[in-house]
Amino acid sequence: MVLVTGATGFLGAHLLLELLRNKQNVRAIKRESSDLNFVKKIISYYHQDVDSLFSKIEWVDADVLDIFSLEDAMQGVDKVYHCAAVVSFSPKDRERLFSTNIKGTANVVNAALRMQIKKLCFVSSIAAIGRSENNQLTTEETQWKSSKRNSNYAISKYDAEKEVWRGTEEGLNAVIVNPSVILGPGDWKNGSAKIFDTLGKGSKFYTEGVNGFVDVRDVALVMFRLMESDICNQRYIVSSENLSYRKLFTLILKAYGKDAPSIEAPRFLLEMVWRFEKIRGRLFNSRPLITKETVNTSQNKYFYSTEKLYKAIGFEFKPIEDIVNFTAQNYLKETGK
Ligand SMILES: NC(=O)c1ccc[n+]([C@@H]2O[C@H](COP(=O)([O-])OP(=O)(O)OC[C@H]3O[C@@H](n4cnc5c(N)ncnc54)[C@H](OP(=O)(O)O)[C@@H]3O)[C@@H](O)[C@H]2O)c1
Repeated sequence: MVLVTGATGFLGAHLLLELLRNKQNVRAIKRESSDLNFVKKIISYYHQDVDSLFSKIEWVDADVLDIFSLEDAMQGVDKVYHCAAVVSFSPKDRERLFSTNIKGTANVVNAALRMQIKKLCFVSSIAAIGRSENNQLTTEETQWKSSKRNSNYAISKYDAEKEVWRGTEEGLNAVIVNPSVILGPGDWKNGSAKIFDTLGKGSKFYTEGVNGFVDVRDVALVMFRLMESDICNQRYIVSSENLSYRKLFTLILKAYGKDAPSIEAPRFLLEMVWRFEKIRGRLFNSRPLITKETVNTSQNKYFYSTEKLYKAIGFEFKPIEDIVNFTAQNYLKETGK
């Protein structure tokens, strides 16, 4: 039996599908407030028989902030996939980020040690890896540097990883994946799928920043393959292509049959917008549309190497254009645009 935390989220729901495809007995964590229809929606992108696949999942209530609920959920389990986290770049979410991501991961690690789990897969992020300067490739060995430029999300994932490494010192077998920006169909109003909604109306603007991007199905498959291997106590960057935002926007807009963006968004404009959004967020108690962190990411150039993963399991990634087209088609079908 395998256990999945964060199973009701974008990556977790795709992982459930990958595990079922590989005939695993799957138990999944949910909370009272979780939206299980979102999991059904994800299944429906890939399969007609949604209910029969959904019924193969054993759901248990647990919260990563409640270690006893985690221990109960791990009864009879031999492998744990830990995807649960708060993903946010909003300053308002600082407390939630630190408690869920750091304390929550410490709880998962401690419960896994106590319940003698054979192997844990922790979903970290490229945000938890240091960043190479001057357009050099970032690898798993690139050193993290404390800096004001690190977002609260990045710090929380970095500290969460430290909890996993601490667990390995105490005898836990673990593997860590560090995905880049994960693309695929999901919640059009939140997370990485939101870019498909934002560009749905077309856009003339682009930014010249470069980032790593990866197909959600590839992340799930890499996680499964690493967990089935003998590899332990290693971390792997999981990223398909290093693309400029200009190229990514062009691919998405092409999938919508719209023109490529032609005007570079000037830095001063973006600086004004995030400051305005910060004030708006405070006044109306709402989440800013863009933040200082998202502006920085969209302007900087980061290149990621996946050589270590290739050497370990020989994984070949699907081209980003595939998942862009698949996601855009589903967006259009679902929203009727
Ligand atoms: N999306 C990306 O581009 C990206 C890139 C790199 C790494 N990652 C990492 O990938 C993982 C999954 O991200 P995602 O995009 O799938 O996020 P998501 O859609 O926001 O899903 C987050 C999941 O975490 C669960 N969760 C949050 N707080 C919890 C708690 N206290 N107890 C139990 N479950 C809790 C949520 O459950 P509820 O349904 O109950 O809220 C949900 O299932 C995260 O670790 C994230 O850091 C994501």
